[in-house]
Amino acid sequence: MASSSAFLTVHLCLLFCIVSVHVSAKIVLEDGYTVTTIVNGHKLNIYPHSVLQLPGSSDLLILDDDNSTFYTVQFPTSQDSVVKRLSGSRVGYSDGDVDSAKFRHPKSFTADLNGNVYVADRSNHVIRKISRSGVTTIAGGFSRKEGNKDGPAQNATFSNDFELAFVPSKCLLLVSDHGNKLVRQINLKKEDCTPPHQSGLGDVPAWTLGLGFGLFFLGVIYFVAVRPWINSRTGRLPDDLNRRDMEALPNQSGEDGSDTLLRHQKRSC
Ligand SMILES: *[C@@H]1O[C@H](CO)[C@@H](O)[C@H](O)[C@H]1NC(C)=O
Ligand SMILES: *[C@@H]1O[C@H](CO)[C@@H](O)[C@H](O)[C@H]1NC(C)=O
Repeated sequence: MASSSAFLTVHLCLLFCIVSVHVSAKIVLEDGYTVTTIVNGHKLNIYPHSVLQLPGSSDLLILDDDNSTFYTVQFPTSQDSVVKRLSGSRVGYSDGDVDSAKFRHPKSFTADLNGNVYVADRSNHVIRKISRSGVTTIAGGFSRKEGNKDGPAQNATFSNDFELAFVPSKCLLLVSDHGNKLVRQINLKKEDCTPPHQSGLGDVPAWTLGLGFGLFFLGVIYFVAVRPWINSRTGRLPDDLNRRDMEALPNQSGEDGSDTLLRHQKRSC
């Protein structure tokens, strides 16, 4: 009798617990979203751990932290999408050529506006950068051991569990250093926070503008000073020569404009 009432008490208690959990937890199912698989790692033996669309690119960057390998794939994906290995192969530590660089179980990465990728290379206790010119170590490079030292980035140390976030408005990286219970920041370089197409657009019109102003002032000097002087010397310019000169200004700057556009297109390719 005693044991069965104890049994009953336990059951009642369990029931109460379940009911109370159901009462206290609030779940709101919001409709209107759809889940679709876009990359299937089974055939390729890829374990995606982190994914990001690279700024200024149509590529997705996928990190497989088991194999310490980065893959890219055109996004949106299609049936013919090809997943390409970008960097990393076996676990290790090697900078330089993107193709042969090695990482040690990074789980997190972020990208700046210039398309550089920053890797929380956790088991190497360093922060790496993948850029067009190759892979470098930007922080933790001197010790490559666990620690919580701040200071010049190569002298700094990190735990073996941290993640990265990029803050474009402040041009810095945030480090959520889980192992050290710290949030840390690393300043980036100015060029890392300027999108390449914007810097291109910024450079080229400035150059065109300079040329335009130069031509304008040449024109002003010609019409204000040189032409009256020539007129006074020669009496009168032939009409067709006069017209050609008038057309020369807008034409020249127009040609430069289209040249600029071409150059810019080439750059962005
Ligand atoms: C990842 O590593 C495992 C062994 O650790 C290996 O079997 C697998 O083929 C690797 N995947 C790729 C895509 O290289
Ligand atoms: C950083 O590390 C280098 C190499 O170990 C050392 O020469 C330098 O004094 C260190 N700088 C600081 C500020 O700790």
